[in-house]
Amino acid sequence: MSAHIGTTVITGAAGRIGHTLRTALRADADRLVLLDRRPLQAEAANETCLKADLADLGALEDAFIGADAVVHLAGIPDEAPLPDLLADNVVGTHHVLEAARRTGVRRVVLASSNRLTGAYPIHHTVFPDEPPRPDGLYGVSKVAVEALGQLYADKFGLQVVALRIGSFEAEPTETRHLATWLSPRDLVGFTRAALTATGVTYTAAYAVSANTRRFWDLTAGQTQLGYRPLDNAADFAADFPDDDPFWTGGPQGGRYADPGYTLPHLP
Ligand SMILES: NC(=O)c1ccc[n+]([C@@H]2O[C@H](COP(=O)([O-])OP(=O)(O)OC[C@H]3O[C@@H](n4cnc5c(N)ncnc54)[C@H](O)[C@@H]3O)[C@@H](O)[C@H]2O)c1
Repeated sequence: MSAHIGTTVITGAAGRIGHTLRTALRADADRLVLLDRRPLQAEAANETCLKADLADLGALEDAFIGADAVVHLAGIPDEAPLPDLLADNVVGTHHVLEAARRTGVRRVVLASSNRLTGAYPIHHTVFPDEPPRPDGLYGVSKVAVEALGQLYADKFGLQVVALRIGSFEAEPTETRHLATWLSPRDLVGFTRAALTATGVTYTAAYAVSANTRRFWDLTAGQTQLGYRPLDNAADFAADFPDDDPFWTGGPQGGRYADPGYTLPHLP
């Protein structure tokens, strides 16, 4: 399915998710503005590439002029020292939202993360409106990312969709992915829906494939964004042992929730 997304900016376009979205959304866009602090090359006539850091609010403002929407992916995608996460993920997101407000961008799609609720136990189905329960400092940064999105929606009328991305992989590569996998096709589907759904003020939704063993509720994506995921990690279940200790209990974040995952990043 395609959709018309006008002029859309993708931050973090040189990254893993950015690469997939850029390729898939190219045909839907009048113009794609691809921004990253790493260099990018245009691959189509309707692509514009910009090298900029999220720390540079003026550069973001220049990049956003004339844009209909921003898909904000840039940031640190895993555990790191809190000052780094605050600079890249939290202040970086603030700059994106503020540049959007100043330039009149209608909608911002934020790359949030399942790790914002990774300390909930695997036998609990989490709904997006439950309190955050991060499994580490990275998850804490995404709590702030979502709070900034809610603030800019409530106070300034920006349309904001926070997609709580699962584990984005071509195929599941570990047991936990049987619950958390987000396929490339469903990533694109959720993002298109987040860009085009009508009636959005602020929505937080889990972006995860229709995995039989998932522990996140998909109603928000379906009712507020109109997207029902198509893939199911169960198709790969034979590749993983059914008696993996992950399924006996413990946090949804699995090894990410272990103290040892965060300890090296503490002051
Ligand atoms: N990959 C996943 O499974 C997953 C899961 C949940 C959430 N997410 C979120 O999705 C987003 C994209 O993830 P990814 O896997 O593509 O990560 P990635 O590391 O492959 O890409 C991130 C990109 O952001 C750029 N970037 C980082 N800081 C920047 C800054 N200050 N200014 C400009 N550019 C900057 C990097 O150069 C990189 O190209 C991240 O926000 C991540 O937290 C990813």
